[in-house]
Amino acid sequence: KIPANTLFVGKVVEYMPSCHSTNDSARELLLQHDTSEGTVVITDNQTAGKGQRGNSWFSAEGANLTMSLIMKPNFLTVSKQFYLNMISSLAVKRVLNDRLPDANSQVKWPNDVLLNNRKVCGILIENGIKRQFLEHSVVGIGLNVNQKAFGLATATSMSNEIGIAFSLQSVFEKLLGQFEALYLKLKAERYSEIKDEYLQNLIGFNQWRKYRSEYVFDGQIVDVLDSGQLKLATQQGDKLFDF
Ligand code: BTN
Repeated sequence: KIPANTLFVGKVVEYMPSCHSTNDSARELLLQHDTSEGTVVITDNQTAGKGQRGNSWFSAEGANLTMSLIMKPNFLTVSKQFYLNMISSLAVKRVLNDRLPDANSQVKWPNDVLLNNRKVCGILIENGIKRQFLEHSVVGIGLNVNQKAFGLATATSMSNEIGIAFSLQSVFEKLLGQFEALYLKLKAERYSEIKDEYLQNLIGFNQWRKYRSEYVFDGQIVDVLDSGQLKLATQQGDKLFDF
């Protein structure tokens, strides 16, 4: 159903009962015709979901939100593309605050969202670039809403944490509303507000923790650069990690 609470995000919804990957279907739509900004591709049964770094993404049929938003952020330079990741994870985080106010939800760099320390949402953004600007962007969001069983002990769903089922339609509408609000903030170039909200919700910000690269070390997240690189302070000085 088309949400009533947005101006342009979700005004066109392409629902597919089943598809390989909503990110791939969204890209095909973009290639086929001039898809309007804010078009959402959504499915109940994603059979070959893609995750970050070539991983797979599994989602139980009909239980969760599995969707891709087609955006045209041609106002955003490639050097600031990580702001799209920030607003996407913040939109999910805001939905969790609203629906599960007593649970502990946090963003994990670069753009995972955790609920009570387990992953509840994964985001995969695929950009098309033209002359240093983002011509289009496919924002793929997998939010575990009502799934009951998980192969991984590190994964969860909204309903798993409190034992009640959620209306997918209402979580969908809330998410699109929050995404649109943050996207308009980005378009208005309110970068520092977005960055502040992101850092305030980021696990490990201004806290000493153990990190692992080739070896384990103590570090503290002090910043995330526009490019998405993570800046950690360590006893040996600052270190940057690529997104
Ligand atoms: C990750 O955490 O590795 C990212 C997972 C992204 C999953 C979503 S589900 C909707 C969209 N379509 C895909 O194939 N992937 C994204």
